[in-house]
Amino acid sequence: MKDKLDLLQDKIDEAQLGGGLKRIDAQHAKGKLTARERIHLLLDPGSFEEIGMLVAHRCTDFGMEQQQIPGDGVVTGYGTIDARLVYVFAQDFTVFGGSLSETHAEKICKIMELAMRNGAPVIGLNDSGGARIQEGVNSLGGYADIFYRNVMASGVVPQISAIMGPCAGGAVYSPAITDFTIMVENTSYMFVTGPNVVKTVTNEEVTSEELGGAMTHATKSGVTHLTAANDVDCLDKIRRLLGYMPQNCEEKPISHPYTLDEEWREELMGIVPENPNHPYDIRDVVKGIVDESTFMELHENYAENIVVGFARLAGRSIGIVGNQPMSLAGVLDVESSRKGARFVRFCDSFNIPLLVLVDVPGFLPGTDQEWNGIITNGAKLLYAFSEATVPRVTLITRKAYGGAYDVMNSKHIGADMNFAWPTAEIAVMGAKGASEIIFRKEIMEAASPEEMLAQKEQEYKDAFAHPYRAAQRGFIDEVIDPRLSRRKLIRAFATLESKVARLPRKKHGNIPL
Ligand code: HXC
Repeated sequence: MKDKLDLLQDKIDEAQLGGGLKRIDAQHAKGKLTARERIHLLLDPGSFEEIGMLVAHRCTDFGMEQQQIPGDGVVTGYGTIDARLVYVFAQDFTVFGGSLSETHAEKICKIMELAMRNGAPVIGLNDSGGARIQEGVNSLGGYADIFYRNVMASGVVPQISAIMGPCAGGAVYSPAITDFTIMVENTSYMFVTGPNVVKTVTNEEVTSEELGGAMTHATKSGVTHLTAANDVDCLDKIRRLLGYMPQNCEEKPISHPYTLDEEWREELMGIVPENPNHPYDIRDVVKGIVDESTFMELHENYAENIVVGFARLAGRSIGIVGNQPMSLAGVLDVESSRKGARFVRFCDSFNIPLLVLVDVPGFLPGTDQEWNGIITNGAKLLYAFSEATVPRVTLITRKAYGGAYDVMNSKHIGADMNFAWPTAEIAVMGAKGASEIIFRKEIMEAASPEEMLAQKEQEYKDAFAHPYRAAQRGFIDEVIDPRLSRRKLIRAFATLESKVARLPRKKHGNIPL
């Protein structure tokens, strides 16, 4: 028996050494941790159980039969985060550059299937040179096997992708299908075609970092939801993110115990400026409402005119969508509509209630917006809210104008509770624009057009620049003192805990993609 145990230990040692000490040193020299180091930091101490440690590739071309490294460039298994089960794979760049062979793909597929069967999240730590070049189409098939499972798992269990090194070519489509992507700054990149191909085809000169680095995808493309300063920060953020989610679509997120107090928040009083055209930071409203230090913003530097993220309210996990008056006055445009819609759909898939903060002057006008499909893209947000069956609560802090009023979780599209602050203005459009249209003749014919415009503007404001017409019709359930917002929202979400809502029977809807 001792010999047999020694042999087992030899094999384990060989697998754990991966591509060897030199390659491990090279990985560290780039500021990156190894696959195993990453897993150990990600999971609760001592909780990792490896699956498929001794799997080796089957390739016999190009002398590959001489190069068998147990594990085949990916470490897979399960463990816990905050004592909750997760499945994880980490590509090992020290073994054939973490490239994806047929067997490497099989290992990833196996843990994805286990995750779906057992109802637990899947976390992928990507660091790979792409398809294992020696394996040709076997490797391409392996990618497609993973993509297919990503789609099957979508909406069943949360899927999180960390990009901790190269992720190029078709390989990017697995993270793209998962729910959240986080990229490590300076050491990771994602692109479909790299700088060399770009140069050949379009004659553009661009570095990997500019083309597909973390900051590029955090600001320009929106491909990544979060960035991290380094590997440790990245793993930490994944742990935090998972805390807001349930294990699967059949469960609710974990609630932390909470005893209701007075919940008066004086700081919410002074946020909305006297002048309705002055900006303010909607994140101050979020922070005034939610439990202290629990707001985790996603897509922070992309489509900044809408803010999305998770937080806790009286211990409950909630998703927040808020117009941001600090950026483009909080208008809805192509990118913010897409950003909001994707987040709403995630929350709805995983039973996370939604709090929607509204201060929106409308949709952004212009040829750029129209030609880039603001119609189809704006419709995504409208569709996403309308089909969401999770508890949905709206608070209008200031403007709710035009079609954007309807879109931003209005009562009419199924919101459960709609509150407004006394500063709310719910109208077809702003008073000036409205007066210029409907009183054009009177203004033109007046002795002093400016005075007439001002008078008509005031008349329009008196009629509509407040929440009381909407409240009269029941479109707003209650106009509230801002300082009571936290209390009102806690109680609203508590009543909605037992909400049951079902969509009409269908195969699936046809969201305007
Ligand atoms: C096999 C690979 C590999 C690959 C890297 N290696 N990529 N082996 N298949 N795809 C090996 C290298 O030969 C090297 O082995 C080791 O991994 C480390 O690679 P280096 O090049 O030394 O590392 P570095 O300088 O950091 O460069 C990393 C890299 C580069 C930029 C990723 O390796 C690279 O360009 N690789 C090829 C990328 C590529 O074209 N992949 C295929 C894309 S097509 P040794 O033994 O020398 O240490 C694709 C299609 C997917 O992925 C389609 C899905 C639908």
